Amino acid sequence: MDQSLQSEFPAQPAGMSQEMATELSETGDKPEGVMPGVDLRRVHCDPNFWYPVAWSRELKPGKTIGVRYAEHPIALIRPEKGEVFALEDRCAHRQVPLSKGRVCGQSVQCCYHGWAYGRSGRCIDVPYLGKGKLPNGVRTYPVLEQDGLIFVFPGDPEKAATTHLPAVLARVDDPGYKTRRFGRVVNCHYSFMHENLMDMNHQFMHMKQMGQMRPRFLGQKREPGMVEARYSFARTSGKQPLGEALIFGERRDTSSKYADRDVMTIRTVYPYQTLHIQTGDAEPVMDLWIAYTPQDGEQLTNRTFGLLSVKKPGIPGLLDLAWPFLVAFTERIFAEDREIVELEQQAWRDLGGDHNLEVFPVINLLRGLLAESGFVPEDEAGKTETQSEAVVATENQPQAVDESAKVTAAADDSSGRSSAPVKTGRTARRKRKAAVAAEQKV
Ligand code: FES
Ligand SMILES: [Fe+2]
Repeated sequence: MDQSLQSEFPAQPAGMSQEMATELSETGDKPEGVMPGVDLRRVHCDPNFWYPVAWSRELKPGKTIGVRYAEHPIALIRPEKGEVFALEDRCAHRQVPLSKGRVCGQSVQCCYHGWAYGRSGRCIDVPYLGKGKLPNGVRTYPVLEQDGLIFVFPGDPEKAATTHLPAVLARVDDPGYKTRRFGRVVNCHYSFMHENLMDMNHQFMHMKQMGQMRPRFLGQKREPGMVEARYSFARTSGKQPLGEALIFGERRDTSSKYADRDVMTIRTVYPYQTLHIQTGDAEPVMDLWIAYTPQDGEQLTNRTFGLLSVKKPGIPGLLDLAWPFLVAFTERIFAEDREIVELEQQAWRDLGGDHNLEVFPVINLLRGLLAESGFVPEDEAGKTETQSEAVVATENQPQAVDESAKVTAAADDSSGRSSAPVKTGRTARRKRKAAVAAEQKV
């Protein structure tokens, strides 16, 4: 590794052994086996999943609202009676948003000339035409509503019925927990959000809010469609914030009896993320489910939807009473995270691509998962040459960072999905094939 670079990285990531750090420093800047690939920030989400687009409470009976999935404007319509439905938010006539219209029974009527569309998207009325001359309608999206969220399926509608959400998100149904719903628009590619949550070495940034915490990396796991990281923590200085005490249900100081007592498990189960904190076999004190729905054509903005369930302490009503403190605490943390990921996104724009030097193996596993699960659209495919070298460097990196790490990372798993080389969708695969063919010609 270049000496100047080495001096910029004086400390290895939390819990990383010296041996591991040395190994990484030898492979980190030019990892072997790196394939010509893509800039992760140009990889678009796989649309063949359910994506949250609104909170249920945002859509009152008899109303319609406009939401988005990537470049697709979507009108959500909740009839007075019956389930929510979703249509392309553009009247077939003059492209006026249908979400500006009004709900009439099981249909929505455009505000301009009054064309009406039913649940299937078919145009069912044009007030000034006979019924026999109705034009084509608009696209419809599969919708489901669960745990206070409205989801749409923006991909192939035929896949919607066989693609499932977890039965319950976080612990919303459990009376032993209180759940906070939070989120807002964040101006960055969804991959920055996944990386931020999974890389707990960024506790450094939250020092003002949390005091000094030493994260210890316990291990990682890679399965088809999933990457997991596990950590424990020790407070090394500073006072425990009230918000954290509320989550753990007790006051904690820097004494060793609290050090590394709980295990935090963070998973990206594509395209969602979860985080829970657990002490031994006890029920988790905190359980988070979170998703990042792209909001623009380039997918460089996302709307975050988080469900944060906190275990109620033994004293009834205490958590309700203290809830405003917990909300304020989690908002401050989220604000710091939002600011930093937006700065990362801005740097990507300024530099014209992803020049990250990622040294933490589990984050490279995560980047591999996100890249292989999404796709690169045709118009982005030519811009991928400036990718970070580390994006695809999962295959040859050490898999464990300390003795206790039990790693099941699999380069080739039984499903046939590879965790290592980045698959980047049809376009990029075609490009690689073409490049190989060109090389063979030479
Ligand atoms: S634009 Fe919708 S009815 Fe004319
Ligand atoms: Fe954070």
